[in-house]
Amino acid sequence: MPKFYITTPIYYVNDKPHIGHAYTTIAADVLARYHRLAGDEVYFLTGTDEHGSKIAEAAQAAGKSPKEFCDENAAKFQMLWDRLDISHNQFIRTTDELHIKGVEKFLGRLKEAGAIYDGEYEGLYCQGCERFLTEKELVNGKCPDHLTAPQLIKEKNYFFKLKEYLSKVAKLIDEGKIKIMPESRRSEVLGLIKQGLDDFSVSRESVKWGIELPFDRKQVAYVWVDALINYISALGYDEDGEKFKKFWPADIHLMAKDIIKFHALYWPAMLIAAGLPAPKVVFAHGFFTVDGQKMSKSLGNTIDPDALIDSFGAEAIRYLLLSQFPFGQDGDIKAGNFSIQYNADLANGVGNFTSRVLSMAEKYLSASGGGGVVPEKDYTFSDEVAGIWRQYKEAMDRFQIDAAIEMIKKLNGFGDGYVERQKPWELAKTDPEELKKVIYNLLEIARHLAIMLYPIMPETAERILSFLGQSDWKNRKLAELKDWGGLEPGTKVEKGANLFPRI
Ligand code: MSP
Repeated sequence: MPKFYITTPIYYVNDKPHIGHAYTTIAADVLARYHRLAGDEVYFLTGTDEHGSKIAEAAQAAGKSPKEFCDENAAKFQMLWDRLDISHNQFIRTTDELHIKGVEKFLGRLKEAGAIYDGEYEGLYCQGCERFLTEKELVNGKCPDHLTAPQLIKEKNYFFKLKEYLSKVAKLIDEGKIKIMPESRRSEVLGLIKQGLDDFSVSRESVKWGIELPFDRKQVAYVWVDALINYISALGYDEDGEKFKKFWPADIHLMAKDIIKFHALYWPAMLIAAGLPAPKVVFAHGFFTVDGQKMSKSLGNTIDPDALIDSFGAEAIRYLLLSQFPFGQDGDIKAGNFSIQYNADLANGVGNFTSRVLSMAEKYLSASGGGGVVPEKDYTFSDEVAGIWRQYKEAMDRFQIDAAIEMIKKLNGFGDGYVERQKPWELAKTDPEELKKVIYNLLEIARHLAIMLYPIMPETAERILSFLGQSDWKNRKLAELKDWGGLEPGTKVEKGANLFPRI
């Protein structure tokens, strides 16, 4: 059975989660669910990044110990992922014992390999970014992302020999062994390599809240190095361990473009130095604004994901967030239009189509004891639907979630058009045999629609499939589920409840 190991960034716990975090995590969930449906053995990892000076200071400001503060905020992430029906296999915290052991082992390995040396470091540190900035990056003396002046730091540090491993990383990227996606990000990363990068520091002397270096207990691991190692520590980081052997290297590290340098250059270089394979795909999606504005606490326009779920439901939020703009590009989340889009795509789209089709089955082909019955199979649309499936699959395989959503809309529109052309309510009076054919096709389209919806709106899909009398679909692979004619004649169907009440 093919395996699929997918990760999200581990998010900082200096605050509660916002919709940027939700966006990436939902996208990863969609891909994880699609691969499970396809029959792959999926391992889906997410979690929280809990060390470093940013977290320590936030904890202090809240009057709590770092661990107590992290426990509270990590729980908020976990609660939100529960509400959003995120199907991760593991939620890793960098304060987990398993992770700490992994970091110690990995850094020990780098030291043994001669990839780490000690030196003095002086630089401008931005706490918001948790990294050193160069003079060139500053705008009016400030970090352009956090609008704060970086601190001048001078201390003893350990360094990783990035320069020594960079050409090896470049080769893997060139050969397509590490795929940087989308293409624009690949060019960006190759540009960074050309420009040349300095060795980076892997430890901090003045920071206390972190993982001590195994070879110098006076230093803690630099928070980014600590964080990146989560992708292997989560699997137990043991070359002979079952889980590690099965799932490493990652099939895809998913994130936004803000942290691509760490994932596409630093991390593969460290892995090469430690003698481990590099991730297969590094996919960096775009950054979004909300209703045309950059989200920030000072502007007071951050949107609480919980409030969105309260208004629209988790299923709709998963769909609404991912259908805004092409996955991979920058874009704008038009939250002000969510009600309009909800009514158009969900209430009048999927919700209306399935409820119409199921009501007609119940009305015209009623079963004894209530509900409707699936009539004899008809194959009129097997080619059309197979074509839509092909495009859906191609889109998902290229991580183009928005393009997969377009295929759902296309199938939905195709079904609506068929109802309008056939007018089953007229056939009921004039041609009962033709009516049966039409109802079969409509019910079967609804089944395909539900399966396509599953990665994006899992609960909606399950409800539609249960109205269609399907109980064992989860035991079957996508290759079979996407064949036309899956609905067996005689199966009882029911109208069910309204999936998306209009707002
Ligand atoms: N802790 C590091 C990651 C370590 S991974 C080894 C970190 N954390 S973060 O909390 O700042 O999360 C950054 C990620 O949040 C982005 O890469 C992206 O996945 C998501 N996003 C945050 N804001 C976003 C937008 N406005 N738009 C798109 N994604 C957003 O960096």
